[in-house]
Amino acid sequence: MKKMIMNVRSLLLITVLLSISMSLFSQSRISITHGPYLQGLTEDEVTIVWTTNKMAISWVELAPDDETHFYHVPRPQFFSESYGFKVVDSVHMVKLKDLKPNTSYRYRIYSQEVLSHEAYNITYGRTVASNVYSETPLKFTTNNPQKEDISFLVLNDIHGNNELMDSLMTGIRWDKTDLVFFNGDMTTDLRSEKKLFDDFLDKTVTLFAKETPFYYARGNHETRGNFATTFPRYFPTPTGQLYYMFRQGPVCFIVLDCGEDKPDSDIEYSGIVAFDNYRTEQAKWLEKVIGSDEFQQSPFKVVITHIPPFGNWHGEKEILDKFVPILNKANIDLMLCGHLHTPVYREKSDTVNFPILVNHNREMINIQANKKQMDIQISNSSRKQVKSFHFKASNNSKP
Ligand SMILES: [Fe+2]
Repeated sequence: MKKMIMNVRSLLLITVLLSISMSLFSQSRISITHGPYLQGLTEDEVTIVWTTNKMAISWVELAPDDETHFYHVPRPQFFSESYGFKVVDSVHMVKLKDLKPNTSYRYRIYSQEVLSHEAYNITYGRTVASNVYSETPLKFTTNNPQKEDISFLVLNDIHGNNELMDSLMTGIRWDKTDLVFFNGDMTTDLRSEKKLFDDFLDKTVTLFAKETPFYYARGNHETRGNFATTFPRYFPTPTGQLYYMFRQGPVCFIVLDCGEDKPDSDIEYSGIVAFDNYRTEQAKWLEKVIGSDEFQQSPFKVVITHIPPFGNWHGEKEILDKFVPILNKANIDLMLCGHLHTPVYREKSDTVNFPILVNHNREMINIQANKKQMDIQISNSSRKQVKSFHFKASNNSKP
């Protein structure tokens, strides 16, 4: 009997030791912790972003979207690089350049742990990669200005409500959706990488962002919290700024970064913001891009910015004073905003010569656009259509 008890104790001890060592082993192995997701997709570029639990170098393998297996031939590798070095980090951004417009590519992500870097010697650890063996390789398609029609969604002011985002996006046909805009305040503030992913980004990756791009217009809440200065790192854009322009199908989009809603001197910002200067600099950029052929030749011109130019609070007034006079010269078809947590539609006026649609914080805009018209449907979290709009392309665009 005594011997039997001893055997059971030994067995228990071995089991405990085994599970401890297994857990230590799994903790010590490199893994992909978040992502990947697509950013800054244009006709010839895209940046693929993901994170790991260890410092690593990273790369993407790219394959054509054909019938061959991903393992058919060695696929070309594109590394995360900066100033001639492969970047060692836990946030990985691989920018793929010189892609062909209107072309689908399959991709696989890799990270190899960097254990140490002493003098001239680097010690590498294990490599982790996305699965192309038992799962279909991930895929993206570059933008196409010649595309006859496009479909896109606009979501704003979710404030970290994953469940709401999930219900708003339930039933979306991702194979028929070209892109998504996050028009600000997807979170209430940024305090850590964990919070960024917990609040909306992990859900975004699960829903669509591995294969369908989202474009971010920063809201005033993404400027708050100790982690807010790190925001641009996770959302690379075509210009390297948080304001940018791109074209997909018949629409040229200008995404503006509204900044904060109160004066820079407000107690809430602890003396750390300088958005008045920032908006002035942004206005100079805006003046330049509205003169570009890419913008002027587009049948539809849509502006995405979180805070509407209603001139009430300081942020609104700044947008009205600094951006609107430039946009008034630019034949804008529509401006899409959020921020107010209430739906508003304003027709063009003497002050603002384009219509403004402010989306509710619990509703989503779904837009179908071709060269002649833009159909807008707004739906709630029960997927019920609550409003619709119809716009004809302005005759002001050059042929
Ligand atoms: Fe806001």
